[in-house]
Amino acid sequence: MKNNKKILIAYYSHSGNTKFIAETMSKEVGADLIELTPKKKLNASGIGYFGWGIRQLVRKDDREIEEIPFNVEDYDLIIIGTPVWTYTLTPPVRTFLKENNFKGRTVGVFCCHEGDYSNTLEDMVEHMPESNCIGKIDFMGVLKDNKTDSANRAKQWIRTLCDSLVE
Ligand SMILES: Cc1cc2nc3c(=O)[nH]c(=O)nc-3n(C[C@H](O)[C@H](O)[C@H](O)COP(=O)(O)O)c2cc1C
Repeated sequence: MKNNKKILIAYYSHSGNTKFIAETMSKEVGADLIELTPKKKLNASGIGYFGWGIRQLVRKDDREIEEIPFNVEDYDLIIIGTPVWTYTLTPPVRTFLKENNFKGRTVGVFCCHEGDYSNTLEDMVEHMPESNCIGKIDFMGVLKDNKTDSANRAKQWIRTLCDSLVE
């Protein structure tokens, strides 16, 4: 599929699942891709890792992220992806949503999880109250046992969203 719409996919990923889905979608429709990076690197093992998840649950930890080289206002469609941490979105994604202006923008959201994503997708949209959300999708156990199926669902989803822009 080819259209002249500009699409941005922004995501955070710690262990590769969300990255895999974001990259799959980006390749499918030729979207710009940006990985959100926390300024303070996360300790990837043990207490530090889970501590971050727990902290965000109790006091909605806001994590500074590296500046992104894109302006969301330049895009016809912005897709945002997050892993689910303690039943909601991750701090880097929350920061991205807070720091950018989504008023009047067309957006889609996705999340990766291991079985309980609760209201994660709604929580994401809540941070963009004046956006036009045209799609929400979740992916479970992506790299562990659903890689091919997840990739196919991701491609189909992004294509459908793009097609709806062209019409
Ligand atoms: C701190 C932490 C909290 C998590 N909380 C949940 C959760 O509430 N529900 C769930 O289904 N999975 C949860 N997970 C699993 C991740 O959402 C899942 O492995 C996801 O695919 C990771 O994405 P990533 O590989 O892009 O980082 C949690 C993982 C971590 C590290």
